Amino acid sequence: MHNSIILTAFTLITSTIAQTTTSTFTDDNGITFWNSAWDTTIGDGDATFGMALPPATETSLVAEYIGRLVIPIPSSGTWFGVSHASMMTGALLLIAWPNGDDVVTNLRYATGYVAPEEYAGNATVTTISSSVNDTYFEVTYRCQGCWSWDQDGAADARLPATTASAQQLIGWAQATSAPANPSEKDSSIQQHADSAANIFAVNVASARNTAYTDWITKTASSYPSATAAPSSIGAPFSNGTATATATATSGLTTATPTAVASCAANSSALSATYDYIIVGSGAGGIPLAAKLATSGDSVLLIERGPPSSGRWGGTLKPDWLVGTNLTRFDVPGLDNEIWADS
Ligand SMILES: *[C@@H]1O[C@H](CO)[C@@H](O)[C@H](O)[C@H]1NC(C)=O
Ligand SMILES: *[C@@H]1O[C@H](CO)[C@@H](O)[C@H](O)[C@H]1NC(C)=O
Ligand SMILES: *[C@@H]1O[C@H](CO)[C@@H](O)[C@H](O)[C@H]1NC(C)=O
Ligand SMILES: *[C@@H]1O[C@H](CO)[C@@H](O)[C@H](O)[C@H]1NC(C)=O
Ligand SMILES: *[C@@H]1O[C@H](CO)[C@@H](O)[C@H](O)[C@H]1NC(C)=O
Repeated sequence: MHNSIILTAFTLITSTIAQTTTSTFTDDNGITFWNSAWDTTIGDGDATFGMALPPATETSLVAEYIGRLVIPIPSSGTWFGVSHASMMTGALLLIAWPNGDDVVTNLRYATGYVAPEEYAGNATVTTISSSVNDTYFEVTYRCQGCWSWDQDGAADARLPATTASAQQLIGWAQATSAPANPSEKDSSIQQHADSAANIFAVNVASARNTAYTDWITKTASSYPSATAAPSSIGAPFSNGTATATATATSGLTTATPTAVASCAANSSALSATYDYIIVGSGAGGIPLAAKLATSGDSVLLIERGPPSSGRWGGTLKPDWLVGTNLTRFDVPGLDNEIWADS
């Protein structure tokens, strides 16, 4: 057993999460997981997330994994969410909660800091086993297409890499209230607790296992598909002031807006040659750089100002965002402040 890395999405959370430990764990199905346990501060005891991946040679299975959740249930009820892209918005989300003796799982998608809609794309989640007692729910599931999925024209691919040090970022969030109708897959849910959301990195090599192809035969075929019912948008996930699980290392990397400090420190960026150099990552520079990079040109986008969004280390934020990794640039509605002091 060794200590894991917690990629801190929210600085204050780090102080409340005593320690995340990782190990491998073999469950009652005989499935061996890369396993992480940590205190979400909700319910009594640690939450556990496990991931099993197919060997990299199984090319038809690259977009899937088997996941395992063991989640404490507070007396107020709960739901637990997993983001397959570490941030909440624009990501495939898996949400699970107890319903009597069963565990309901379903896939959702959030286009903004609003109630995530029911996911209608080609990824599926299928339960392998589950159990519920007074204080915990536990579910082992197969998530197919979950590293490469589409939704209403949006698509994303985050296939686990094959390098020895590869990591897969996972975001999570937990709520202190049960969904409005726990028996309904498309139930509305209340926002997760402010402090109960973070991201961590799964060590891909530790999760891969050649027995994976045997494990997926355990999939309970009778369980209803997650992509069934149409959405009913319920209570807001957030009231729009964005306390959610943003952040992480996503997005366009070809034209990377970086801070002056890190750019100047990257001497190879300064001596390399580019098809285009765009000065200023404003409302004109960013889309132009993205467009050019998408068409295959190499682009250097340079910016004099400080880092803006949280993912690049930005710090400009109103008091109510302190303790999150969000800045005023991440929050729709704060755009009238974006020019102040920057
Ligand atoms: C409830 O379930 C959890 C998770 O499976 C388990 O660790 C715990 O021992 C169970 N508690 C009881 C009282 O059976
Ligand atoms: C799901 O959609 C994505 C994005 O369009 C695509 O890359 C992937 O191959 C699709 N998966 C399946 C199983 O059809
Ligand atoms: C929205 O949430 C924020 C942060 O929790 C809170 O400060 C604010 O009062 C809420 N606004 C409304 C209109 O509920
Ligand atoms: C914000 O998130 C980014 C990307 O995950 C990370 O590099 C950075 O350290 C985070 N910042 C804080 C203050 O947590
Ligand atoms: C430095 O610049 C080079 C050339 O543009 C780029 O490939 C590399 O990723 C950059 N490194 C960092 C740490 O930003």
